[in-house]
Amino acid sequence: MSLTAITSLLSSELKAVNDAIIRCLESHVAVINDIGHYMINSGGKRIRPLVVLLSSKACDAKDDDMITMSAIIEFIHTATLLHDDVVDSSKLRRGRLTAHRVWDNATAILVGDFLYSRAFQMMVTLNNMSCMRLLADATNVIAEGEVLQLTHRFQPDLDETHYLKVLRYKTATLFEAASQLGAVLAKQPHTIEQALRDFGLHLGIAYQLVDDVLDYSATNESWGKNIGNDLSEGKATLPLMYALKHASAKQANVIRHAIQVGSLDELSTIQEVIIASGAIDYTMQVATQEVEKAKKALNVLKASAYRDALHELASFTIHRGS
Ligand code: IPE
Ligand code: IPE
Ligand code: MG
Ligand code: MG
Repeated sequence: MSLTAITSLLSSELKAVNDAIIRCLESHVAVINDIGHYMINSGGKRIRPLVVLLSSKACDAKDDDMITMSAIIEFIHTATLLHDDVVDSSKLRRGRLTAHRVWDNATAILVGDFLYSRAFQMMVTLNNMSCMRLLADATNVIAEGEVLQLTHRFQPDLDETHYLKVLRYKTATLFEAASQLGAVLAKQPHTIEQALRDFGLHLGIAYQLVDDVLDYSATNESWGKNIGNDLSEGKATLPLMYALKHASAKQANVIRHAIQVGSLDELSTIQEVIIASGAIDYTMQVATQEVEKAKKALNVLKASAYRDALHELASFTIHRGS
């Protein structure tokens, strides 16, 4: 099943989510509307709203709340991207100039704050303390992950444990929350909540692992970001860490220096070392194991087309770059 096939299962719900997003973006400050629409209309994949909808449907949750919740999750995601692109000095997002390049850093950061706080205003309307708690905790952990990553910049000796912690915090947390929310909205027992939480966690880890592979290897324009962004920020990600461990002494020096100064001068050499060392295959294997764990977590859900679609979404995560 392709992403299109999965989304077609929920076309009316996704349309309702889009309508809610547009409606809730509304501000009387013109630049907020401008950046909001610039981001929202630029073709994000809406994976996290899809997870909310599928997990909700798999648990028979009420329609209205799942639509609002999906829009909330996309707002939080968009806010993190606005902030993250400033922090990472990224030039491209969704195939377009990043918002801070079109406007400026201060404006992008403040509109990110607007989206975060709007998400919490929307949450209040649902009057559901469990959802509030879950999302308050999730946004807090995402912020911790982004800050933690900052403290690990320019460190060639970063180990896998520290890397995986950042990845879990900054990315998997929102997937985890999105998936668990379906069970919370449907007032499911703890075992179902925990299973969907595990699904989201492993899906999110796999998603970021693949993104870190694509950061060195994406050939498909639909990825919409610049190659080498992680290296230019001095981020040691798993493909690079693996290549460093398996490179010759001379190649290792090149990689270490590039991480220490955040330089793209030797990017093509480093890409070659990454490929020759098997780092892409290794990282994809780790991602595949996470996807398998995600799929296994779904076993306790009752059989439905939505459960199957969650399964397919997990597979899509691995194949999205090809
Ligand atoms: C980008 O997420 C940030 C990561 C966690 C890698 P997506 O790849 O889901 O971004 P959009 O929303 O589809 O642009
Ligand atoms: C994204 O991390 C995580 C968040 C936005 C919280 P990255 O910095 O790796 O994502 P991209 O590559 O900019 O999309
Ligand atoms: Mg980034
Ligand atoms: Mg990235």
